[in-house]
Amino acid sequence: MTDGLAGLRPAKRQVPPHPYLCGASMKYQLEIAKRRSFAIISHPDAGKTTLTEKFLLFGGAIQVAGAVKSNKIKKHATSDFMEIERQRGISVATSVMSFEYKGTLINLLDTPGHKDFAEDTYRTLTAVDSVILVVDSVNGVEEQTRRLMEVCRMRDTPVIVFINKMDRDGKNRFDLLEEIEKELTIRLHPMTWPINSGKDFKGVYNMADQSLLLFRAGTRADEDTLQIASLADPVLEHKLGEKDAQQLREDAELVEGVYGALNVEEYLQAKVAPVFFGSAINNFGVKEMLDTFIRIAPTPRSRMSTTRPVGVQEDKMSGFVFKIHANLDPKHRDRIAFFRICAGKFERNKYYHHVRLDKDVRFSNPYSFMARDKSIIEDAYAGDVVGLFDTGNFKIGDTLTEGEDFYFTGIPSFSPEIFKEVVNKDPLKTKQLEKGLLQLTDEGVAQLFTQFGGNKKIIGCVGELQFEVIQYRLLHEYGASVVFNTMPFYKACWLTATDPAKLIDFLRFKQANAAEDKDGHPVYLAQSEWFLNTEITNNPDIQFHFTSEIHK
Ligand code: G4P
Repeated sequence: MTDGLAGLRPAKRQVPPHPYLCGASMKYQLEIAKRRSFAIISHPDAGKTTLTEKFLLFGGAIQVAGAVKSNKIKKHATSDFMEIERQRGISVATSVMSFEYKGTLINLLDTPGHKDFAEDTYRTLTAVDSVILVVDSVNGVEEQTRRLMEVCRMRDTPVIVFINKMDRDGKNRFDLLEEIEKELTIRLHPMTWPINSGKDFKGVYNMADQSLLLFRAGTRADEDTLQIASLADPVLEHKLGEKDAQQLREDAELVEGVYGALNVEEYLQAKVAPVFFGSAINNFGVKEMLDTFIRIAPTPRSRMSTTRPVGVQEDKMSGFVFKIHANLDPKHRDRIAFFRICAGKFERNKYYHHVRLDKDVRFSNPYSFMARDKSIIEDAYAGDVVGLFDTGNFKIGDTLTEGEDFYFTGIPSFSPEIFKEVVNKDPLKTKQLEKGLLQLTDEGVAQLFTQFGGNKKIIGCVGELQFEVIQYRLLHEYGASVVFNTMPFYKACWLTATDPAKLIDFLRFKQANAAEDKDGHPVYLAQSEWFLNTEITNNPDIQFHFTSEIHK
């Protein structure tokens, strides 16, 4: 927690440092250079959990396969949110997994697999410096893959693609690459090239170092690597057979001709995504990717704030809360705020400036997250994520600094997909209900809108499950009993206009669809795509935004 009241003290105002003087000493350069903070993302079932586990095995963070309890919520559990919360309880420990691999400190931020918690995933993506996107070779690009990539694109997050399940009869590899490029609007760059798929899968050819990785299910890939002088090497015939050796030569020539060598700079600018083929379950092709990852993936990057760019090398600590995890157990109603350090060194028991509350706070038990358990840490650096015990002082997007007033930007809210009116069943508990709604929406469980005119409270979520969670928590934590009335909306668009009078007119005219979000920003709630497009066409003076920045 922010260590209760003992952790709070009135803030001492500090003069902001001159932007050009901050961090000139590069005091923590070595710590920054060591770190890679990223997330593995995928459509459910593509193999994210399996790949995560293999990474942890390589990192020595776990010893046996099966040790990571899946953070994914099984499909059949869709109506049992208590079970989901139990699983989420497990997943707090696995929300961030830190391990070392070949001298690199890797912070792997886990994302929930269940679609109903997609918003959680989007927010986690604001705290990483790069991602690995897993695509199922059989199913290709799926719905969730598309949406996750949209978020990555918004932030220019560098992406590495892992095409998984090559041991299954998948799509033609050229078709698959074309599909990914087209659907995800990103240029790909194959780093390895597969030899067949399914039962004929024989392995991958590593384009960069001209090695051949031979596939045998259940064996570790690095046990069967063959360095070849060139593709003309007759050992290819011996190992792959005449037909496949010839095919590989043709494919490799074509791929090399089209793609050439990887331009790492373009990868870092999110213009090109290196691609690896493999099979996570067989631990095949994973090590090649991990080795490349630690070589090319970005170290913690500098970030924009509401007042100035914040350099990752600055001495003074700053960072932001990107996720809040509440414990549903009534005996332990604590929350953990996930705090990403963006610059400087975070220290236990040191006072930091909570910008929104204008208070100084300190933490006597900050957590670091290892693969299986949480441990209290003394300090942490840019790129790290620490868990801060919270008794309700934090909301998503909150920034801590060493005295300066700014917020990190680039933490967006996305439009919900399901909207329901909150109906208070017990008027005596109105105050509790309001408090509950505010706190739950601060945690990012849902978004709250107030309809213009009618003052109806409308909750927007990505999945049905959150409504169950909200109803349960309002009753058990705040004593407020509610039911929900489904509203006929499918999307919320945030509105702006250069001429405020035009916006006011529009809102007045469209009262049934007009609302404001929690921060008072005007929002248009659209019934359908058709209605939305009609309004966009009919109102050229008004801008419809599909996301909203928490801090601008
Ligand atoms: P997710 O986290 O992205 O949702 O996927 P997860 O790793 O749980 O993998 C989904 C399913 O795909 C799992 O099977 C897993 O064993 C399987 N899988 C992962 N990688 C590969 C691969 O390279 N090849 C093949 N053939 N299958 C793979 P499941 O039956 O749903 O679960 P389980 O009973 O194996 O745990």
